[in-house]
Amino acid sequence: VTGDSGPPADVAGEHPDADRPIGVFDSGIGGLTVLRALRERLPGESTIYLGDTARLPYGTKSAASVLRYAAQASTHLVTCGLKALVVACNTASAVAIDDLRARFAPLPVIGVVEPGAEAAVRASRRQRHLVLATESTVKRHAYARAITARSPEAHVSELSCSVFVALAEEGWTEGPVAERAAAAYLDRAMGGPPDERPDSVVLGCTHFPLLAEVIRATVGPEPVIVDSARTTAESVARVLATLGAGRTSNAPPTLRLLATDGAERFAAVGSRFLGEPLSPSDIEIVDL
Ligand code: DGL
Repeated sequence: VTGDSGPPADVAGEHPDADRPIGVFDSGIGGLTVLRALRERLPGESTIYLGDTARLPYGTKSAASVLRYAAQASTHLVTCGLKALVVACNTASAVAIDDLRARFAPLPVIGVVEPGAEAAVRASRRQRHLVLATESTVKRHAYARAITARSPEAHVSELSCSVFVALAEEGWTEGPVAERAAAAYLDRAMGGPPDERPDSVVLGCTHFPLLAEVIRATVGPEPVIVDSARTTAESVARVLATLGAGRTSNAPPTLRLLATDGAERFAAVGSRFLGEPLSPSDIEIVDL
């Protein structure tokens, strides 16, 4: 789902940090779906991605741990010199976005929850939303708050679908196992009288866009499926345009990929998420 006013112009700017990269942080590899959308939307920008693979998953951890991990990972990226930080992890966005904004101000910090909520409200006719997310995101009710802040009459149900994370990591994004898992999670949530059924299904986790087809087959043709990756990329484009911070350099943009563990697994699984081939030597292992 994209904005109805169309994408803003990519404004190359006078901003002093215009030629710095955009930092993208996730608990692991799933945030590469956001990096992919960002590279499609802003192909002239350099990017640096950090996946905290050593401590994945964040989705089942306490808020205190997620806050600490998110601060450490973001500090590592910010120290590389950024013009904006994208928190591509829904769990970290739900738990730590306020802390990260306060910590790194005036650096723009863009999370995935607000753009996702905005897109869901725009796309839904009946304002009946079903948010699929990790346990920590659901516990925090971050999407419910972000959606009802924009649409006070909205009805929001939130469903923790942790098994989807494992399926995406394993590459089991289609076939009988994925179909059974989707049915187990979604059949009840999509039931009830027709006018009470969700007409918007929000993919509130980095990994879930990979299961979009099986989710579509399970929920049927009616509900709109909202993927926050593209809307987040759109938000980043808007922020850079507003700041006049579009890249000015004529040198080709660069992509750096950092992880806290497992270059081989990152390359093998990550290429599916990024939609580009990766080899272990493309990944720099860092210690936070
Ligand atoms: N990146 C997480 C999210 O979007 C999913 C994986 C995890 O639990 O760390 O919520």
